[in-house]
Amino acid sequence: MKTKAMTRKKLFAMFIALAQCFACLAGDVKPAPAFPGKSHAMLRLEANERFILLPVEEKTGICNISIIYDNKSRQSLNVRLAANKVDYYVPLDISGHKGREILLDINALGDVLKNGSFKDYVCWQHIRQSADFDTANREPHRPLYHHTPAYGWMNDPNGMFYNNGEYHLYYQWNPYGSQWENMHWGHSVSRDLIHWENRPAVLAPDDLGTIFSGSCVVDKNNTAGFGAGAIVAFYTSAGKKQTQSIAYSTDNGNTFTKYHGNPVIIGDVPDFRDPNVFWNEELGKWNLILAAGQEMRIYSSADLKNWTYESSFGKGFGNHGGVWECPDLMKVSSPDGKTEKWVLVCNINPGGPAGGSATQYFTGSFDGRTFTCDSKPETTKWLDYGKDHYAAVSFDNAPDGRQVLVAWMSNWQYADRVPTQQYRSANSIARDLFLFNDGGETYVGSAPSQEYLKLRGKKTLHKSFSAGRKAFTAQLPDDDGTCEIKISLDPAENSKLQFTLNNDKGEKVTVEYDSSTDTLSMNRHESGTTGFSNEFACRTAAPVLGGTLKELRMFVDKSSIEIFANGGRTVMTNIVFPSEPYKSFTIESSKKTKVKSLDIYDKTYKRP
Ligand code: FRU
Repeated sequence: MKTKAMTRKKLFAMFIALAQCFACLAGDVKPAPAFPGKSHAMLRLEANERFILLPVEEKTGICNISIIYDNKSRQSLNVRLAANKVDYYVPLDISGHKGREILLDINALGDVLKNGSFKDYVCWQHIRQSADFDTANREPHRPLYHHTPAYGWMNDPNGMFYNNGEYHLYYQWNPYGSQWENMHWGHSVSRDLIHWENRPAVLAPDDLGTIFSGSCVVDKNNTAGFGAGAIVAFYTSAGKKQTQSIAYSTDNGNTFTKYHGNPVIIGDVPDFRDPNVFWNEELGKWNLILAAGQEMRIYSSADLKNWTYESSFGKGFGNHGGVWECPDLMKVSSPDGKTEKWVLVCNINPGGPAGGSATQYFTGSFDGRTFTCDSKPETTKWLDYGKDHYAAVSFDNAPDGRQVLVAWMSNWQYADRVPTQQYRSANSIARDLFLFNDGGETYVGSAPSQEYLKLRGKKTLHKSFSAGRKAFTAQLPDDDGTCEIKISLDPAENSKLQFTLNNDKGEKVTVEYDSSTDTLSMNRHESGTTGFSNEFACRTAAPVLGGTLKELRMFVDKSSIEIFANGGRTVMTNIVFPSEPYKSFTIESSKKTKVKSLDIYDKTYKRP
C-alpha cells in the first residue's frame, strides 16, 4: 500500500515538474521564490508585462508585498495570497517598472501559517505576468443600473463633484481583493448620474498612510494657487495617526498631484477623519467639517491649505450608538424654494435604526463658525431607514443649486461577506435632497434624482384597480426582474397593504404599509441568500412622514431594493441576494384599497 502511494506521489511530482517545464517553454514563466524565513518569501522577476496576476483566497491571512528595485521599496500592498485554493486573481500593475529586474518581498502577516507551510501555498504555482486583466462581469448579482467598481472592494463614495457636464465619483477602493484593505480612491464618471464609466484610480497609499474618505471642491477662483478651476481633493491620510491631506487636479479630476505640504490638519484624537469641504458664500471663505470621535469639528480657510478650528458639534445631540463618520454640511431648500436650512449629515456606525451603519442628520443654522441645531438634543432624524445606506455625502458644485447625495449600499455588519467575489458593494441611486415639515419638525427628504424620471425606460405596465384580500399579480419586465415600480394609492383606514416581489424559488421580499400606525416596513427574511451573516435577515421599519402613504416608488435592481414613500419623505434601502431574479409583483390589502395607478418601467435608462 505504502509503496503504491509513494509511487503515485512520485509520478504526480514528475507530472507537475513536466507541466512547469512546458509552461516555461510557452513563455508563461513562474519563477521560483526563495524562502529566507518561515513566513517570508522573495520572488525575483523581470517586469516585462503590464500586470502581475496575484491569486487570492479570501479566507486566508494577509501577506504584505513590497516591490523592491535598486535596494528601495517602491510600493507596498496587502493581499490574501492563496494558500489552499484560488478564489480569483487581482492585477498588480507593474507597467511603471517595465524592463527592470524587480524583487517581490513577501511577508505573511498574523496567523497565516496555520494553514501549513508558506512554501506549500498554492499561490507560488499561480503568480504570473500578463498583458491584460479580464474585467468582464462574472457576478449574477451585479446591479444593472447602480454604480459598482469593475472589481475589488468598495466602501464610501468620496470626493464627488460636478463640473463641465460630468459627475465625478471617487470611492474607497481596494484594488487587491474584495475585502477592505489598501484604501485607494477609485474613480468613475457619469454625465447623467445613471451610466457610469470606470476610470483608473486617482489616489494610492503613500508614506503618510492609506487614503481614507474625503471630498473635492472646484476652486473656481484659484484660492489655493493650483490654478483657476482646479479640483482640490481632501482626504484622510490613515497612517500611524489620522491626519488630513490635500491633492489637486488640473485635468478635471482625472489625475491628482498630492500637495507637498501634507498633512494640512493634524488632530489629537484617534478617530479623526473624512474631511468635507465647501465654499461658504456668506463667510467668503471655505469651511471644512470632519469627524472626531463622536462629534464633528468645523474649520475655516481662505486658501484651502491653512485651516482655523472654529467649533465642534455633537455632544448630547442625536444618536451616539457608534462612531461618527463621513460628515457633510450644506444648505437644503423646500421644493417651493421658500424655506432653506443648513443640514449636517452625520453617518454613524453602529447605532442605525435597523442595527449597524446608518445616516442621521441635524437641521439648523450655520454662520460659518458654529452649527446650531433646531431640534431638541434627544431628537434623532434618519435619512434612510433601511440597513444599507451609509457614508452618504453630496456632490460639490451640482447644477441648479441641487443637493445630490449618494450612499454606499451596505452595512459594516456584513459588507465583507455578501455573496459576490469579483467586486463587493454598490452605491445607491443618486437622490435629490429637499426640506419638508411634519408635526412642527423640519425633515430632509431624499427623492430619486430627477434623471431617473427624465431618462426612464419604457413603461411595461399601467393598471388601476381596487386591491383586496385576493392578490393582484403583475409580471416584472424581461427576465431579470430589474425595474422601477410606481404606485399611487388611497389606503383604507386601519388597513394593511402588502407589496411582494416573488421569484419561482419561493424567495420573496415583502413591503408592508400599516395605515393604522403609518408604518412602512420591508422584510428580507426570505429574500434569497441570507445565511452569510446573522445580522442580514431582518425586517426594517419606518414611520411614514408627511401623512398617509399616497405614493411609493420602488427601484429594484439585481441585488437591491430602494423604496421612496411620498416623494422621498420616508426612504428605505436594502440589499438582497435572490438565487434567481424576482419575476412577479403582487399587491394585497386587508381592506378594499384604491390603487389609482400601478406603473412598471423597464430598467433601461436612456442616455441624455
Ligand atoms: C466609513 C469609514 C470612514 C473611513 C473609511 C475607511 O465607512 O470608516 O470613516 O474614512 O470608511 O475606508
